[in-house]
Amino acid sequence: MKKKINWSGRSHNYSNQDIKTIVNCIKFSDPLTQGKYLKLFESKLRNYLGRKNVFATSSATSSLELIAQLSNLKKNDEVIVPAHTYCSSAYPFAKNGAKLIWGDINLKTRTLCPLDTKKKISKKTRAIIVVHLNGFAADLLPFKKLIKNKKILLIEDCSQAFGSELRNRKAGTLGDFGCYSFHAQKNLTTLGEGGAIYIKDSSLAKKLPGLRHNGHSGFGKRKFYWKPAMVNVKEDLKYKWPNKFTLSEVQCAAGSVMIKKIDKMNNERIKRAKYFIKKLNKLSENLIFNSNFENKRNVYHLLPALVNPNGTIDRDSLIKKLSFKFGIQCVTQYYPLYKYDLFKKKGFAKHKCPNTDYYFDNMISFPFHLWMSMHDLDYIIASIKKIFQEIDDKKSNRIKTKKTN
Ligand SMILES: Cc1ncc(COP(=O)(O)O)c(C=O)c1O
Repeated sequence: MKKKINWSGRSHNYSNQDIKTIVNCIKFSDPLTQGKYLKLFESKLRNYLGRKNVFATSSATSSLELIAQLSNLKKNDEVIVPAHTYCSSAYPFAKNGAKLIWGDINLKTRTLCPLDTKKKISKKTRAIIVVHLNGFAADLLPFKKLIKNKKILLIEDCSQAFGSELRNRKAGTLGDFGCYSFHAQKNLTTLGEGGAIYIKDSSLAKKLPGLRHNGHSGFGKRKFYWKPAMVNVKEDLKYKWPNKFTLSEVQCAAGSVMIKKIDKMNNERIKRAKYFIKKLNKLSENLIFNSNFENKRNVYHLLPALVNPNGTIDRDSLIKKLSFKFGIQCVTQYYPLYKYDLFKKKGFAKHKCPNTDYYFDNMISFPFHLWMSMHDLDYIIASIKKIFQEIDDKKSNRIKTKKTN
C-alpha cells in the first residue's frame, strides 16, 4: 500500500545551486576520482570537525573496517560493542579476529551503558565502541574513566550523528578513532554513499591514504614519469592487505556543497524534533523520547520513542493503526545484533542485554526526513493524538454504560 508518509530512502532534497556544482563536476572534472574535489571535501571536513587527521572514505562501514585493521587486533582480543546498533558497527571487528562482547544500552539515552560496560571489561578487552545512535551524542567521559591506564581503544561510531556535540566539541573526534556515514538517509550525504574516518594517532593517520587506495604510493624522485611504472604499490600496515575504499569526485563535490549547509539542516532537525515532542507532551507517560541532554547537541538523525508497555496502547497496535488507518509508515530499529543469523552463525549469540531487548520490543521510529513538510509532521502528530483520544473515549464510554446499567 502506498503510504501518505513513507519511510524514505533519502534524507533531504538538493537546491539548484547544489545540482549545478554536481553537474559541473560531472561535465568538467578530470580525473573523476582522487582529484581536487577530494582535497576540497577533506579540507572542509577537517575545518568543520576541528581535526587534521580526517579522511573521506566510501562508507562508514569501510571506515570501521579500516579502524579494525588499524586497531591491530590479536586473536582472542575482545571488543565491547552495543547490540542496539546497525550491524556494521560490529562485524568489521569480528572479521579482523576479535571476539564481540555485546554491551547493553542505557534506557534514557539508548546508547552504550557505562555501568554495564564496566562489568564486561576483561583483561582481553582491546576496544570499546560507543555509537552515537539516532544523532544522540553519547557521553564519553565515563568511558574515558573506565579505560584510563588500560590499553583499551575508544572508538566512536558517529555514522548517525554528523554535527552532534559533547561539551562544544564534535562527536566522533574525541576517542582514538571515529567514523561518519554519508549514506543516503544520513544528515549529510554524498549522493547516497560515502563516509569519513578520524584517526587520533598521526603516525597511524599517515597510513590511511595508501590503506584506502590499493596501497598506491609514489616511487619518489625519478627521471621519467612512466618508469619504473605509473604508481608503486606497498604495504602500509604491517601484515595487512590494502583496500579500495575511495570516494569519487562527484560525491566529493556534493559533500563540499552540502557540508556548508549542515548546521542549517541540523538546526532544522532539532527545531522539528523539539516541536514534535512538545506537541505530544501530554502523552509523555506513553511515548518516551530520548532524555539526558546535558552538555550535548543532539542532531536528531532519527526520532524514536519507547512506547510504554503498561500504557494506553502497545507498540505493535500503534504501528498498525498509524500504518493502516493513517498511511504513516513507522519502523522498529534496531534488531538486537545477537539475534541476526550472521552473528549467531559466527558464534556471537551469547548476550546479557535486558535493556536492549526491552527497548527493541517496545520502540517505534517515526518518519523524520528533512524533505517532509511541516504539514506532514503535523499530520503524524494529529494521527497519534487521535489514536490515543479514541482509546480514551472508548474507555470512558464503557465506564459510563457500566454506571448507567
Ligand atoms: C550506527 C551505524 N554505523 C554504521 C553504519 C554504516 O554506514 P554506511 O552505510 O555508510 O556504511 C550505519 C548506517 O546506517 C549506522 O547507522
